[in-house]
Amino acid sequence: MADTLTIIDNRTGQQYDIPIEQGTIRAMDLRKIRASPDDFGLMTYDPAFQNTAACRSRITFIDGDKGILLYRGYPIEQLAEQSTFLETAYLILFDELPTKAQLDQWTLDITLHTMLHENIKKLMDGFQYDAHPMGIFLTTVGALSTIYSDAKRVHDEDGRRLQILRLIAKVPSIAAYAYRHSIGRPYIYPDNDLSFTGNFLNMLFKMTELKYQPNPVLERALDVLFILHADHEQNCSTSVMRGIGSSQADPYSALAGAAAALYGPLHGGANEAVLRMLKEIGTIANVPAFIKKVKGGSDRLMGFGHRVYKSYDPRARIIKQTADQVFEVTGRNPYLDIALELERIALEDEYFVSRRLYPNVDFYSGLIYQAMGFPVDMFPVLFAIPRTAGWLAQWDEMLRDPDQKIARPRQIYIGAGARDYVPRDKRG
Ligand SMILES: CC(C)(COP(=O)(O)OP(=O)(O)OC[C@H]1O[C@@H](n2cnc3c(N)ncnc32)[C@H](O)[C@@H]1OP(=O)(O)O)[C@@H](O)C(=O)NCCC(=O)NCCS
Repeated sequence: MADTLTIIDNRTGQQYDIPIEQGTIRAMDLRKIRASPDDFGLMTYDPAFQNTAACRSRITFIDGDKGILLYRGYPIEQLAEQSTFLETAYLILFDELPTKAQLDQWTLDITLHTMLHENIKKLMDGFQYDAHPMGIFLTTVGALSTIYSDAKRVHDEDGRRLQILRLIAKVPSIAAYAYRHSIGRPYIYPDNDLSFTGNFLNMLFKMTELKYQPNPVLERALDVLFILHADHEQNCSTSVMRGIGSSQADPYSALAGAAAALYGPLHGGANEAVLRMLKEIGTIANVPAFIKKVKGGSDRLMGFGHRVYKSYDPRARIIKQTADQVFEVTGRNPYLDIALELERIALEDEYFVSRRLYPNVDFYSGLIYQAMGFPVDMFPVLFAIPRTAGWLAQWDEMLRDPDQKIARPRQIYIGAGARDYVPRDKRG
């Protein structure tokens, strides 16, 4: 017999058998629970979607209790050690690791789309000299929809693949231009002889040399960080990507919205917030007083806690190892000692232990980015580049899914009942 949940409505005495599939009941099955014929039917109240599955997905699996993260079944630790970002992006998008021939073609296709339309440069020139690069990034990604009007054909599979190539290839160029704009340096065109991350470093940091040579340790470290950030199932920005995409808007507009969601300090802005927090703490001696403030509720330990992980975030563990390799090249980030002390105290403290708050991906990533020479306000942009692969995979999956429709949550109305308009001279 199939698994069912039996609900007895005390108002009517009626019994309902609700099927359970994959540990889930369908919210629409609750609708038939009605006290009277004019009753709308039972709904669930789930602010912030803490216990609601909005889709079935084959892309990313997380076990938050055990600290497991898999992309298409492959453990994040193995991908971080053996794969590259472009190969992982292919896996996330197309369900399988590419053959050698597929990977070569994919890499070539991406490389051929790295250039930006010259009008985009003019658009970026219009931003204030000190504009936040994430603001420039999300605006410019959205503006691409005005250049690629063919992107509106979201039900055309080949068309979707073309937009996916364009977006993955162009987001590093947009990010680098945003950075160069914010520091008043000329834009650097892509160098297609270099790897995905090598070229990105070139567009960011090239000065007058004829050919930029990325440091191989930093190039690989950035690639590993990109692998770790490529997807994370139904987080805030991915839900926005799916939500906007569900209205059949083009992927550039949807991705601009997803990037906007990522911008917030509780999401992709957290690594930026971690660095600001470490700077504010200043010295190891101030760590206990800061922890006291956090426990008192007047501050948050940024880079700690996660909606899904209730144990050590597996990405944070990998990032900690990557940090050691980067610091060998760049020198040790002076904030590392403060971060290690915060982690040491927090992992022993009852406040954090009882709430199951552990370091998340953002706790150490900012330290690496800073040591590599990135200014703090580039951090969320560095998150957005690899997450573009995940957003697009989720968008593509959503469009193929016959269960999906335009996203439209319900509400519980708690405002005033119907009442007559009060003329202005009669208001109290
Ligand atoms: C990620 C985050 C938004 C998840 O939030 P959430 O699932 O809604 O969890 P809650 O805010 O309900 O937190 C549960 C409890 O832990 C506390 N808590 C959560 N994160 C905390 C943090 N970073 N520092 C201090 N306390 C924290 C909350 O105050 C709450 O305590 P309470 O039960 O006494 O009220 C949250 O942990 C956070 O703000 N972390 C810092 C920002 C960050 O690093 N974000 C990056 C995520 S990858």
